[in-house]
Amino acid sequence: MSEPKPTPPPPAASLEQRKRAHLDLCARAEVEHPEKTTLLEEIDFVHNALPELALHEVSLSTEFLGKTLAAPFLISGMTGGAPETYAINRDLAIVAERRRIAFGLGSQRAMHQRRELAWTYQVRKFAPSTVILANIGITQAAETPTSALRELIEAVGADGLCVHLNPAQELIQPEGDRDFRHGYATIRRLADELDVPLIVKETGCGISATIAQRLYDLGARYIDISGAGGTSWVRIESLRSAGAAATLGAQFASWGIPTGAALLALRGTAVPCIASGGLRNGLDAAKALALGAQLCGMALPVLRAYHTGGTAGAESFLVECESALRTVLLLTGSASLAELRKQPLFIGPRLNAWLEALTAWERRNGSRANP
Ligand SMILES: Cc1cc2nc3c(=O)[nH]c(=O)nc-3n(C[C@H](O)[C@H](O)[C@H](O)COP(=O)(O)O)c2cc1C
Repeated sequence: MSEPKPTPPPPAASLEQRKRAHLDLCARAEVEHPEKTTLLEEIDFVHNALPELALHEVSLSTEFLGKTLAAPFLISGMTGGAPETYAINRDLAIVAERRRIAFGLGSQRAMHQRRELAWTYQVRKFAPSTVILANIGITQAAETPTSALRELIEAVGADGLCVHLNPAQELIQPEGDRDFRHGYATIRRLADELDVPLIVKETGCGISATIAQRLYDLGARYIDISGAGGTSWVRIESLRSAGAAATLGAQFASWGIPTGAALLALRGTAVPCIASGGLRNGLDAAKALALGAQLCGMALPVLRAYHTGGTAGAESFLVECESALRTVLLLTGSASLAELRKQPLFIGPRLNAWLEALTAWERRNGSRANP
């Protein structure tokens, strides 16, 4: 008689547990890059002592994916897939709708594996008019037919799909992906076959201008550079691990291109970009916008404000960001974000050194293939 087979735990259970551990660590632990900043502290504006503007004339509005946002902010994709994550998605979607800013859902891998979890992402009714972004990892996207991805997007009523790149995090995660081939072909397929715009995003290690340009050439509409200096997923995985994974994670906790450097390298190219990774207030956002970003994404500070003060806490954090951004526009004599982008900027030596390193590589190699 054959042995009865032990029932394996459902694969999504471990995914759910991982989601819970991530949220828990983000709420209470030190999860930011320990030794690296965004380098946005190296950017300064030139003060305009007589701006000839009234504060009420300053406009923060911006177009994004065919919709008009009241301010250039995105609550970056964070969660979904475990029952308790629904309230976070619902409440942050409510805040996004009220502030007329964009809202990103977390990775929909869990709902792709178990359709009965779809409700934890379905918050369109709370944000009927603003931009909602669907989300999936590049490895899952590579393995999934376009028709199934289209269903994931439609099921949440999204205006666009974010495909996230996170090789550093995966390598630290004992159960993470190890094969990152076929990424460019996947981006080309999705750009060609999906009906909604495609955004390619990192998750806190940055995207170089060379790779951003290549992704844009393949059809990605926006590149969210999500650089280093804010949340470090390598550090989070290392906190969740023991033994060799924890040691490897601790070594690589500050891996990545600082957000300011990734933005500076893209300035002057035609690649439309979203800034994120370590933006913590409206002044950081203003610097990112002045470097050419179309939109500013924030994840950890919104989540923390929500943990502390619920929906009202998240909203008042975003109101503070709007207020600081409006202050920068007035003090630089900019009536709009387009005018802010034309302002002269002081750029410090470390950022310039990063730019030199990134562009020297390109000059030497003349190829757009790597890094
Ligand atoms: C709790 C949490 C969960 C996240 N989950 C996802 C995710 O599912 N998909 C994704 O593309 N990015 C995810 N991110 C990454 C963010 O979208 C963002 O790129 C990164 O955290 C850097 O921004 P920050 O420094 O403002 O947190 C998550 C971030 C946080 C804090």
